[in-house]
Amino acid sequence: MRVLVVGGGGREHVLAWKIGQSPLVERLLCAPGNAGTSDVAENVAVKDGDLEGLVKLCKKEAIDLCVVGPEVPLAAGLADRLRDAGVSVFGPGAAGAQLEASKTYAKRLMQRYIIPSGSSRTFEDFESAAEFLDAQQNYPLVLKADGLAAGKGVVLPETLDEALTVARDMLDGGRFGDAGRKLLIEEHLRGEEVSVLALTDGKTLAVMEPAQDHKRIFDGDRGANTGGMGAYSPAPVADEAVLSEITREVLVRIVHALARERVDYRGVVYAGMMITRGGPRVIEFNCRFGDPETQVILPRLKSDLVPILKACADGRLNTVPDLEWDPRPAVCVVMASAGYPATSSKGDVIEGLDDVRAMDDVFVFHAGTERVGGEVVTAGGRVLGVTALGDTVQAARDRAYEAVEKIRFDGMQFRGDIAARALAR
Ligand code: AMP
Ligand code: GLY
Repeated sequence: MRVLVVGGGGREHVLAWKIGQSPLVERLLCAPGNAGTSDVAENVAVKDGDLEGLVKLCKKEAIDLCVVGPEVPLAAGLADRLRDAGVSVFGPGAAGAQLEASKTYAKRLMQRYIIPSGSSRTFEDFESAAEFLDAQQNYPLVLKADGLAAGKGVVLPETLDEALTVARDMLDGGRFGDAGRKLLIEEHLRGEEVSVLALTDGKTLAVMEPAQDHKRIFDGDRGANTGGMGAYSPAPVADEAVLSEITREVLVRIVHALARERVDYRGVVYAGMMITRGGPRVIEFNCRFGDPETQVILPRLKSDLVPILKACADGRLNTVPDLEWDPRPAVCVVMASAGYPATSSKGDVIEGLDDVRAMDDVFVFHAGTERVGGEVVTAGGRVLGVTALGDTVQAARDRAYEAVEKIRFDGMQFRGDIAARALAR
């Protein structure tokens, strides 16, 4: 098979790494990829936002399966364009991607199909939002931009003044642009977070092992929200009972809901969950693999991923055997560049990658890197995801940090407490 992975982050590196191990794959391309994907695939210089260029690439290279990584091209209709051109695609069309691209759409589905989540109200003008905020007593509140905001669209104000400022900035001030034209004000949920991802062809589900992300920049979950500073899998907070509840009440129901709404959904349904005292509640849905969660999930998957993705794309997931997992835990430590998450730093030379290559059960997935001359340099906020497997969480974590210690670049930042929650149990 000829496979194309669209995207150029850590998620796409781990996808290409896993897909490239399949005996079914004769050629693997990645557009645009990064310095890491060029070790496992052929990078092609087509940007993930160039829908026209990607359709042309798939036709020219006779691609048998296109796997789309990021949400932005999915929401822009890349999968629809490719399917219209006869290409088999893993990833939902624009209608399905609304699950992530419009929080009001996701909320409406959750209400209609009785999927547990926090209560919320949507506002389109500042006066009504302010009136509602005036009557609220319990802080923090959760304010969310309706649309895609690269992980920055959620604010948790502690006071009425702060909440009013955020609401005004979004509804009147154009903060987040079109994505902030609608504002959701949501109940604050308390508990531990977990990400549960399922592969689906719109009818059948294959639920993957749970993972826990670390969203804040600093140790102890302090500081600004980021795209994710590390992850581990499995996540003990989602034990068998919790996972089966999430499968029953969230994943099965959302796939049913999409089918019932006549949305042809082929791809990942990612449920971002809060495990509260009252049970699991949905924080958000994503329409794609999580980043960095995928960097700890796929190294644990023993099954060949390619027939599974292809079966989802072709609407026959029911013919594929159950997923098989390595019971060993995986831990991923993200190394970010100077200034992240507010800014990022480009061109800092990364040293030590060869030393890490020699380590067993350690994988360095590149997120924001590029090759300049003979060197690998930083090219984004999140630079590397250093993942290790181990017999225990402690062993996996020790090994991941041992690898991190061998890597150096100017201004590098990483958290020292990835997987601490799993160890504290
Ligand atoms: P999101 O972009 O929707 O994943 O939100 C980013 C982060 O904000 C989540 O990972 C949570 O940590 C936090 N968050 C979002 N919604 C809520 C909520 N209703 N209650 C508490 N925390 C939330
Ligand atoms: N790690 C969070 C996400 O992929 O949205």
